[in-house]
Amino acid sequence: MSDAQDLRARLEALRAESIERIEQVSDLPGLEEARVRILGRKAPLSEIRSGLGKLEADDRKTVGQLANEVQTAISDTLEKRREDLEADELAARWERERIDVTLPGSASPVGSIHPLTRTMWEIVDIFAGLGYRVADGPEVELAAYNYDALNFSPDHPSRTPQDVFYIEGTNEEVLLRTHTSPVQIRTMESQPPPIYVVCPGRVYRRDEQDPTHLSGFVQLEGLAIDEGITMGDLKGSLEAFAHQVFGNDLEIRLRPHHFPFTEPSAEVDVQCFACKGRGGACRLCRGERWIEILGCGMVHPFLLEWVGYDAERYTGFAFGMGIERIAALAHGVNDIRYFWENDLRFLGNFAGLA
Ligand code: PHE
Repeated sequence: MSDAQDLRARLEALRAESIERIEQVSDLPGLEEARVRILGRKAPLSEIRSGLGKLEADDRKTVGQLANEVQTAISDTLEKRREDLEADELAARWERERIDVTLPGSASPVGSIHPLTRTMWEIVDIFAGLGYRVADGPEVELAAYNYDALNFSPDHPSRTPQDVFYIEGTNEEVLLRTHTSPVQIRTMESQPPPIYVVCPGRVYRRDEQDPTHLSGFVQLEGLAIDEGITMGDLKGSLEAFAHQVFGNDLEIRLRPHHFPFTEPSAEVDVQCFACKGRGGACRLCRGERWIEILGCGMVHPFLLEWVGYDAERYTGFAFGMGIERIAALAHGVNDIRYFWENDLRFLGNFAGLA
């Protein structure tokens, strides 16, 4: 067999073998491997081409053409196989990543405003509508502001360490405030009258926890100081507040009480909104017809003098309420501890409220 015949036979064999091999490849990495084996620099085709040099010019031309033909055939087969494999792979991937758009989606949990925060905002809004702004004070407070400036005597029973969180090592001069009333003093100290503020914030007491007591809770204080403010203004303002929270047709009443920082002092009741003040077998007011909602009074001149105001010229009123109590009443919750347990089964009931 001549060299030319030999090379032709090898080329034809190579073509047949290569095409078969390519057809059998089952994935893209395998195809790349086959390509290198068949067409790479050390592959049979290169080797055959390097044999062309030994041939006569005529043979060199025809065998060279055949080599080109074989190379083209192999390249075309490789290309075709690549397209098929890519299509297969894509189809497999679609199958793998197939999604059923008719399945119910998994909803991502969306938070909502805590009922205490919401109640607080509502109350602040009501007073904002009456011209009040919001004032703030520290939760870690001086006993001087929590008590002394508010006309508590040095031996007042509410100062007892059994009831108060004093800060260690401060000789009972620093404490967690037991009410928001010290913000009255801080606000008056920081500006001249007139003053119309509400002060929402946390307060702390060493109370035994029960359905109506917590060791940390939220209060909202109100303070109005101006010329000529009377108890009529106090009652009118609280009436406006009670009407918006509990209902327009309900009356309020002031019952005499005592606070060191107001004189006179009162507790405010609203007519029971469950029985509309009829009493009887009402479960909410237990037949009392009235429900206590807050404490209030005319600002004691002692406070005005403490902050350096002219107590002859200015008068005012203050009030303070527990937000948990208001929220519990407004939403029919019978245990204020629920507000602090962070149980979503409870909190979720308030999620949709405007
Ligand atoms: N600070 C009082 C309390 O915590 C409430 C109050 C505030 C009463 C303002 C009168 C005036 O009980």
